[in-house]
Amino acid sequence: MADTSQRSFRIFRFNPETDDKPYYQTYEIEVESWWTVLDALNEIKWFVDGTLSYRRSCRHGICGSCAMMINGLNDLACEKQIKLIRRNPITIDPLPGFEIHKDLAVDMDPFYKALKRVKPWLINNDPPPSRERIQSPEQFHLIGDGIACILCAACTSSCPSYWSDEEYLGPAALLKAYRYSFDSRDQGLGDRIDALDNRHGLWRCHKITNCFHACPKNLNPTEAISRLQRRVIEEKT
Ligand code: FES
Repeated sequence: MADTSQRSFRIFRFNPETDDKPYYQTYEIEVESWWTVLDALNEIKWFVDGTLSYRRSCRHGICGSCAMMINGLNDLACEKQIKLIRRNPITIDPLPGFEIHKDLAVDMDPFYKALKRVKPWLINNDPPPSRERIQSPEQFHLIGDGIACILCAACTSSCPSYWSDEEYLGPAALLKAYRYSFDSRDQGLGDRIDALDNRHGLWRCHKITNCFHACPKNLNPTEAISRLQRRVIEEKT
């Protein structure tokens, strides 16, 4: 027999084309014991209210599409097990700090534009070697956090510095800048330094550590930013 329970979902709703202001809509549904919050959203959209909007793709915590605020904390809906949430109703909001497209879907353009400013790719002007550019396990370990980042924006949208400065690169972009600038095969810090070394870049971080607490992958952007700050100072002296 299926192991099910009745749960309430209080969901932020706002359609800028038709609504004067946002409101919450509550849905009561039966959930199975293995469901995640994304499974519940799918149930609501597919069988209860097709007008609900949100993003999702992989359902495996890889693509980063389903980041949203669940009971006041940013998280991935596809990784959040409903049975581990005691509070009822479960309140779901869009990621803060971004403009609302509709309901839980926010405008991610500023996030990707900030990312592009740090040139998140390998820069190496040496002629390509005959085989791959070798990297030791220690060198790889140094950049592991930046590689594991899935760009869900949970960190950037939790950052008060980002809320107060729309030009700020934000922790996700800075973590990627760290990932490439500390890559033993990369020579691109000089190309990134203009984007990093200003009040909308590295120096806007006030070590609030919301990013660290918000990351669903347990990465530490704050530490990466500190290391990158030191590297930029060394580069300039
Ligand atoms: S749907 Fe891809 S991370 Fe959740």
